[in-house]
Amino acid sequence: MAKILVTGGTGFIGSHTAVELFNAGYEVILLDDFSNSSSKILTQLETITGQAPEFVELDLCDEKAVFEFVAQHPEITGVIHFAAFKAVGESVQQPLKYYRNNFYSLINLINAFKSKVNLVFSSSCTVYGQPDSLPVTEDAAVKKAESPYGNTKQIAEEILIDTCKVTPELKVTSLRYFNPVGAHSSALIGELPIGVPQNLVPFITQSAIGKRGPITVFGNDYNTPDGSAVRDYIHVVDLAKAHVAAIKRMESAVAESNYEVFNLGTGKGSSVLQIIQAFEESTGEKLNYAIGPRREGDVEQVYGDVTKSAEGLGWKAELDVNEMMRSAWNWEKYLKDNPF
Ligand code: UD1
Repeated sequence: MAKILVTGGTGFIGSHTAVELFNAGYEVILLDDFSNSSSKILTQLETITGQAPEFVELDLCDEKAVFEFVAQHPEITGVIHFAAFKAVGESVQQPLKYYRNNFYSLINLINAFKSKVNLVFSSSCTVYGQPDSLPVTEDAAVKKAESPYGNTKQIAEEILIDTCKVTPELKVTSLRYFNPVGAHSSALIGELPIGVPQNLVPFITQSAIGKRGPITVFGNDYNTPDGSAVRDYIHVVDLAKAHVAAIKRMESAVAESNYEVFNLGTGKGSSVLQIIQAFEESTGEKLNYAIGPRREGDVEQVYGDVTKSAEGLGWKAELDVNEMMRSAWNWEKYLKDNPF
């Protein structure tokens, strides 16, 4: 069986993808520098899969180290590249930190592997900004990025497109995630936000457990059914499975071109107030929340057209918002009893 390298393998989406690759029978090697994750995730993965994961601690910005690693691992046939900085606010404050890390790592990886791999790139629906029509399809216009973080995703896609044009043997799939939330059903892995969570669902679970105060709903005067902003929330386990499907598609050589892009969402939008309600109903916990002003840089609503991913990847999200909330809550409770 092929061996797949998962960069950012101890991160939120990386760790869930490692489990799904293992379930699909792949050999996996995880890589991380623990800049935004914990080494304890490796123990958790061993408990879930019954097997200690192969792991390398490495900074992908270290060109020499990346070349040495790749030379030592000719058995790697696929790379799923999650390793990147992702905090929108921090990227505005420290743009060079984001441009340096997110581009050096990608360029070093491609240069070191040359054309020998199938690469999955972790992109984002942030490239669409506020789309002109919904649900947004993959061929919608890419809008000017609101933050350096968003810009790194847009430019990285362009770097990959340009590289694929002159490197026909290299295969790349960019996956544009909508809003990944939830946690593994074992509650042994999940999202580990640093400091005060900026994203909605980790804030909700931390508020419910008493780690944070009330939730602020950022705006209730949007042009949406209940006035709060709408997003396409997707369960991280569904998202992880789509990465396995993307690797399989590149292995089977059915792709029309050596660069492809797919939306990964459920196709269904939920408002902030609907998410709060789903959390309360599916967990039985009461949330304290208040309406506040809009958050700068937020779009009104975005949800994805998932026709292309259903057809091309043979993949469809299966878990609903209730399951997303329940699993996120179980993970938060696990963390309370077992702090990382
Ligand atoms: C954000 C990023 C996006 C990134 C994604 C990664 C911004 C503008 N966008 O998406 O680029 O790819 O995270 O996960 O930061 N909300 C509240 N109260 C809160 C927190 C959030 O009402 O305390 C609302 C937001 O206004 C938004 C929705 O909840 O309408 C989801 O917010 P969030 O989880 O931060 O995700 P995005 O902003 O969609």
